[in-house]
Amino acid sequence: MIVKLSNGREIPVEMHKVRIIQKTYLVPAEKRLKVLEEGGYNTFSLRTRDIFLDMLTDSGTNAMSDNQLAAMMVSDDAYAGCESFYKLTASIKDVLGFEYVLPVHQGRAAEHLLAKVLVKPGDVVPMNYHFTTTKAHFELAGGTVLEIFRDLALQTQSTEPFKGNLDLQKFKDVIAKYGTDKIPFVRMEATTNLLGGQPFSMENLREVKKIAAQHNIPLVYDGSLISENAYFIKKREKGYEDKSIQEIITEMMSYTDIFYLSGRKSSCVRGGFIATNIKKYFEMIKPWLPVYEGFLTYGGMSTKEIEAMAVGLREMTEVDVAGSAAEFVKYFAERLIDTKIPVVTPPGGLACHLDAKMFLPHLPQAQYPAGALAAAVYLTSGIRTMERGTISMDRDKDGNECYSDLELARCALPRRVYTMSQIEYAVERLNWLYKHRDLVGGLKFVEEPPVLRFFFGKLEALNGWGAKLVEAFKKDHGPAY
Ligand code: F0G
Repeated sequence: MIVKLSNGREIPVEMHKVRIIQKTYLVPAEKRLKVLEEGGYNTFSLRTRDIFLDMLTDSGTNAMSDNQLAAMMVSDDAYAGCESFYKLTASIKDVLGFEYVLPVHQGRAAEHLLAKVLVKPGDVVPMNYHFTTTKAHFELAGGTVLEIFRDLALQTQSTEPFKGNLDLQKFKDVIAKYGTDKIPFVRMEATTNLLGGQPFSMENLREVKKIAAQHNIPLVYDGSLISENAYFIKKREKGYEDKSIQEIITEMMSYTDIFYLSGRKSSCVRGGFIATNIKKYFEMIKPWLPVYEGFLTYGGMSTKEIEAMAVGLREMTEVDVAGSAAEFVKYFAERLIDTKIPVVTPPGGLACHLDAKMFLPHLPQAQYPAGALAAAVYLTSGIRTMERGTISMDRDKDGNECYSDLELARCALPRRVYTMSQIEYAVERLNWLYKHRDLVGGLKFVEEPPVLRFFFGKLEALNGWGAKLVEAFKKDHGPAY
């Protein structure tokens, strides 16, 4: 629920109460420096015991509901024919309208199977934007990812409500250039993660489907953040204000040939699936499911998570659940904008994204500003964020750096996990950091893996800026924080 305060600000008010908590710790800045240095200035290397607020990701870290937890207790562990799977297929049929379901252990496993079955060497895959694992799988299958967003999608300070739209003219040009034989499908990602959680409009999806259908190109929908995209359509697109989230999802799915998701986001569990009404695709993928994931009725997921997913999919159609992260992200972003900190606008679906190019204008992209900012945020607050910039891009085949379109430090807000006072703490510490941003320097790799290097890569702070930043921080806050 959104409540307007007498000072004009809108705040999100939770339509739930918290009945289980997990303790969290704030270790002193000196300790933060030690563990970050040991971990190669990579926030993936940190342990929970050293993290105060974990805003690395909203993936698999959301608070589940009482009904989800209760459902886990009645799961059926049968290897084949497990009843929990049939509860999931019933939910998928009711919420998304698909008949055929292939469960997988998480979203990238769905991408792996789609790539294996549909992407051939030399193919091109047009999409509104890539996600790291999507690009990796489609390229490993020999394909090339073509991102055909509109130029304005890369403007981080914007009022454009649908920066996740696919550019329709560019799509037609791609079809004319490569021919339909080379295009196995077009992919639409709900609430484009790496553009800062920016949605596409229903109108755009409808038009993409129309063009694709004229050329017999199937539309693949990545629905990891489907409820957020539906929420933004309701909030931002004319004609959808009075539609329910379910009605919006139903219309989106009417344009979709193959659907997949990471269940770790909108549905608040750990797992994923592919779903379709086209038997041909189901039959093509099915034989590979037991090879890579597990038998058809569990697909690598725990049956407990399958039960929780069946409930989570239904719950994500409630407007207060669909908007639970988006409204907190909006509050967080507006509080930072109050103090002139550069964040991606309009606020997106899964996280408040700091624009590292603007936050640290003195750092060239070759020194990884987004990675440096994520490190500096941890040093000065104990908050873990994620680099979403050049470190998250791998080098090309010749070993050249591929500079990312955007350099973002992502402060993800897992659904229903953090409170407004914790967000106020983050705002306060980010303000201090912004005032001292000149102290933040660049990073360089000391260990660089060949693929998805952001997970395990190790870096170091150029000229030891981390220690200097911590010194300045301690002067203002004392050694305890
Ligand atoms: N598609 C999108 C849009 C995603 O955001 C993710 C994961 C995946 C696919 C892959 O799913 O992790 O279950 O294998 N996003 C996570 C994140 C990792 O932190 O944003 P997965």
